[in-house]
Amino acid sequence: MADKKAQLIIEGAAPVELPILTGTVGPEVIDVRTLTTTGRFTFDPGFMSTASCESKITYIDGDQGVLLHRGYPIEQLAENSDYLETCYLLLNGELPNAEQKAKFVSTVKNHTMVHEQLKTFFNGFRRDAHPMAIMCGVVGALSAFYHDSLDIKNPQHREISAVRLIAKMPTLAAMVYKYSMGQPMMYPRNDLSYAENFLHMMFNTPCEIKPISPVLARAMDRIFILHADHEQNASTSTVRLAGSSGANPFACIAAGIAALWGPAHGGANEAVLAMLDEIGDVSNIDKYIAKAKDKNDPFKLMGFGHRVYKNFDPRAKVMKQTCDEVLAELGIKNDPQLELAMRLDEIARNDPYFKERNLYPNVDFYSGIILKAIGIPTSMFTVIFALARTVGWISHWKEMLSSPYKIGRPRQLYTGEPKRDLQKLEDRK
Ligand code: CMC
Repeated sequence: MADKKAQLIIEGAAPVELPILTGTVGPEVIDVRTLTTTGRFTFDPGFMSTASCESKITYIDGDQGVLLHRGYPIEQLAENSDYLETCYLLLNGELPNAEQKAKFVSTVKNHTMVHEQLKTFFNGFRRDAHPMAIMCGVVGALSAFYHDSLDIKNPQHREISAVRLIAKMPTLAAMVYKYSMGQPMMYPRNDLSYAENFLHMMFNTPCEIKPISPVLARAMDRIFILHADHEQNASTSTVRLAGSSGANPFACIAAGIAALWGPAHGGANEAVLAMLDEIGDVSNIDKYIAKAKDKNDPFKLMGFGHRVYKNFDPRAKVMKQTCDEVLAELGIKNDPQLELAMRLDEIARNDPYFKERNLYPNVDFYSGIILKAIGIPTSMFTVIFALARTVGWISHWKEMLSSPYKIGRPRQLYTGEPKRDLQKLEDRK
């Protein structure tokens, strides 16, 4: 794996030889693990130049706008696969054949209900609690229900925990929504597909069961596929880091949910709608574009830009197409907020500031619009991202535990006070 070497010249010290590692695709990586023997280490806040692990799950080429899951382009998965099939792929490395798929779908469906006792947790939250606050709590609380399968060293335990999480996330997400609405929580229906069942638990009530639109179910499924994994982003890295200490999978996923909540990560789809509310009208767009460019103004165009995709976000392309399908199905033509979003998209795409910095609409720009059109409140957007990303998180957690790993423990460049002596209170100025 390592034939080439890099040489590091440090003033006043002997040169250090560092192996260069190559992946299947992607740039070469300088292996700095032996650097500590020189009494030095690297400084890379934000991990812009650091690979924290080796992985076989997802590959991204940000410059070319490529996203592959186990080698398959995201566009092909979104077009020809479905979410549970994508889950199987991420977890196991290969797409299932018909028999494997039927078995996996049936296993997931066997685990869609949550323990009745878990419902009582909800009553501890205010009805106006943010759904992500409740999700952090109830997903972490799953640890208290599955003592039978918490041995992280046992592959079967890891497997069943993965299935339980994938199966129960839609149920918990819909329960959070129903709790906020004061409506009865709906039990899952295993005769429906994964996405249909989610929409059923969200929008049906015991007194009125309406059929689920296939177009909306397909859009929901696509949103799940497009958010399923994104290699070592902030929340996935959080899950790996938590898992590296030996924490149980439910606790690790709760940590991932907490990391996802931030507006620079999963909270962006919610922030897009909040921003559209703030802009209010097409006539204000110029003012807000100017604010986004002003370095003294903290305002940013939410849903634009990406840490990795510096050309375009391949997920955004599929999302835009799905967005058009959903708006046509729902007959939405003259929604002022959607009109505002489309106009903003057009203006920003043609503005030199955004073009020079390669700031294109990302997946969250369009997913926010679709979710709003389906009738999902903005406060639930990040919950849906968490639901979909659970498979990515758990696949990375499983991958890490299936091969030798170390507890994640970054170093630091200390710039605080050097050692000094404590003065008694009466002597301090
Ligand atoms: N609006 C205005 N200017 C921007 C924006 C934006 N949305 N994003 C980046 N810039 C500017 C930034 O000010 C900087 O300008 P300059 O070079 O003059 O200093 C330049 O573009 C490079 O930006 P950066 O902050 O160095 O880029 P980053 O890779 O550190 O940040 C980001 C990426 C996603 C945090 C950022 O683009 C952002 O905050 N976008 C809005 C939030 C958002 O939509 N996040 C969702 C990401 S997709 C979901 C996911 O995968 O989690």
